[in-house]
Amino acid sequence: MSDPGTRISDQQSLRRGKIEIRGLTKQFGDSDVYRDFNLDLQEGEFVSIFGPNGCGKSTFINLISGIIPIDFGTVLYDGKTIAQTRLSYVFQNYREALFPWMRAISNIQYPLKILGLDKKTQSLRVEALLAEFNIKIDLNRYPYELSGGQQQMVSILRALITDPEVLFLDEPFSALDYEMTLFMRERLQHVFLKRRNTMILVSHDLEEAVQLANRVLMLTRRPTRIADTVPVDVPWPRDAKSLTSPEFVAIKSRCLEVFSREVARHDSAGAASGSG
Ligand SMILES: Nc1ncnc2c1ncn2[C@@H]1O[C@H](COP(=O)(O)OP(=O)(O)O)[C@@H](O)[C@H]1O
Ligand SMILES: [Mg+2]
Repeated sequence: MSDPGTRISDQQSLRRGKIEIRGLTKQFGDSDVYRDFNLDLQEGEFVSIFGPNGCGKSTFINLISGIIPIDFGTVLYDGKTIAQTRLSYVFQNYREALFPWMRAISNIQYPLKILGLDKKTQSLRVEALLAEFNIKIDLNRYPYELSGGQQQMVSILRALITDPEVLFLDEPFSALDYEMTLFMRERLQHVFLKRRNTMILVSHDLEEAVQLANRVLMLTRRPTRIADTVPVDVPWPRDAKSLTSPEFVAIKSRCLEVFSREVARHDSAGAASGSG
């Protein structure tokens, strides 16, 4: 069988260093979401996070990206703090993420303005990014004039313009139709393979979680732990056809098994203690 794809372990460009999460603790009111949670992530990997609704997936990336404060614990990026690291974020709700009064192109350029780069450098950077993507969107339009998928593409471009070391994506394609979702997954892999930013993706879609990741973190219900880490050693890029390959299907089943076991374990524990 010919295998033209690449595997992550083959990549020379894999960045060294680690994301170290130690003793992460977060409560909302008196309910623990994370209690002394530890995790090491390699930089330059694509990690998907999958788990039951409300288990704290968004909270996790909000904590480790510095969007919401940590109660206790530390997060280090290759030894640096969150503030010393270039992070970008793609939100689930693209309708609220873009500035409606700015044209798409100005939305994309905005982070460079905040960084204080001069106009000329800003334009050159935007041009270079667009050349890399071959985007067929009229970027002189305002967000409301674009489709959902186009708006989310603009959000992703805005997130990439600073060449982040780490890109966080919280269910970025959940509001898009299936055709657009497949297209966006393809573009995101293209970005990843080309740039090797660390990608941390939250998804409630197991197919998507597996397709895009080199490993899937399976989370439990709260207080949240890692039920299992499932490696996805499948060649890149992974197109729609690869979703039906036997190795892909086997990995998906393994994830589903972990998920079902966790949900069942919780349900029986809940029944035994009389709580729901
Ligand atoms: N700002 C907040 N204040 C209080 N509770 C919150 C807040 N944000 C999230 N929660 C609660 O924390 C839990 C985890 O939320 P979230 O991380 O959004 O879950 P997920 O993304 O896995 O669906 C949920 O029970 C949610 O209601
Ligand atoms: Mg969420």
